[in-house]
Amino acid sequence: MPTGERPSVVEVYSVSARQREQILSGLNLDLMWEYAAMVQYIQHASMLTGPEYVAIIQEELQHAQDEHEHAVILSDLIQYLGGIPTIEVAERLTSLDNEEMLRQDLQAEYNAIKRYLTRIQQLESAGLYDSAQKIRNIVVVEQNHAIELEKALGIRRATSPGPFGSNA
Ligand SMILES: [Fe+2]
Ligand SMILES: [Fe+2]
Repeated sequence: MPTGERPSVVEVYSVSARQREQILSGLNLDLMWEYAAMVQYIQHASMLTGPEYVAIIQEELQHAQDEHEHAVILSDLIQYLGGIPTIEVAERLTSLDNEEMLRQDLQAEYNAIKRYLTRIQQLESAGLYDSAQKIRNIVVVEQNHAIELEKALGIRRATSPGPFGSNA
């Protein structure tokens, strides 16, 4: 392409205004919670203490890096889809109790998984399969975060309903 010539604008996606608004506000909500998760993990990693928490402290620091990466992916995706990425940060929780901090982190992961599954549905029903794939990649990482936290908390799925609720 000669210098100065712009690529032609082609209609790649056909999404209704309603779908677009729903998806963009959902993704901005996800972004706020990613920022919050990153901050919360950094703080918890500093506050957790005791020999049995040494391994999970390292995992929490890794989670903080993963959430940062997710925030970058979401921010770019929102911009690509025509929105303005938020700079708002959702609610952060902390405690002076080690276990309570881990429970707060696990609940945040369950909430994130639930939100992302909804987002994948919304994106796919709008035909945005490429964007949905990006969210799929993120939600797999969130599931791994949840697994690590469940293990650190001594939660065994066979005796605890976890994110599925009761089997009854
Ligand atoms: Fe994340
Ligand atoms: Fe996570």
